[in-house]
Amino acid sequence: MKVLVLNGINLNMFGKRDPAQYGTATLDDINASLQQLAKELGVSVECFQTNFEGTMCERIHQAHADQVDAVLINAGAWTHYSYGIRDALAILKCPIVEVHMSNVHAREAFRHVSVFSEVVKGQICGFGVDSYLLALRAAVSAAQFK
Ligand code: DQA
Repeated sequence: MKVLVLNGINLNMFGKRDPAQYGTATLDDINASLQQLAKELGVSVECFQTNFEGTMCERIHQAHADQVDAVLINAGAWTHYSYGIRDALAILKCPIVEVHMSNVHAREAFRHVSVFSEVVKGQICGFGVDSYLLALRAAVSAAQFK
């Protein structure tokens, strides 16, 4: 099973940005934890990050061509307003899990809205690095029982 993990705008700065919200783990640390869990679950995980919206859309198109089995996405602030990424995600047939490190519902009002809600299987937020690990388990299970 192939799982694609997508990280969007500003998320390469995890570990340096706002530790009260996002902790001190870097994106490399998160990816290493995901690879470790992937090994335990017997799945393959590829991780991708970009700060460019069009590049993210093109990576999602590639995921469609590659027929990946599940996608995890933390799109950062794009989550709250990018219809372009939403429409790209809607092309995929596989389960998509939306991930956030912080509890977006306990923060500013603009973070309470996800324009991806209608096209994702579910959302996991508020558990820091564990949000990604829980999301990987959820994605693998959703793909198995699709
Ligand atoms: C975030 C939450 C978003 O609101 C924010 O813009 C981010 C990170 C999170 O992981 O908690 O960049 O997606």
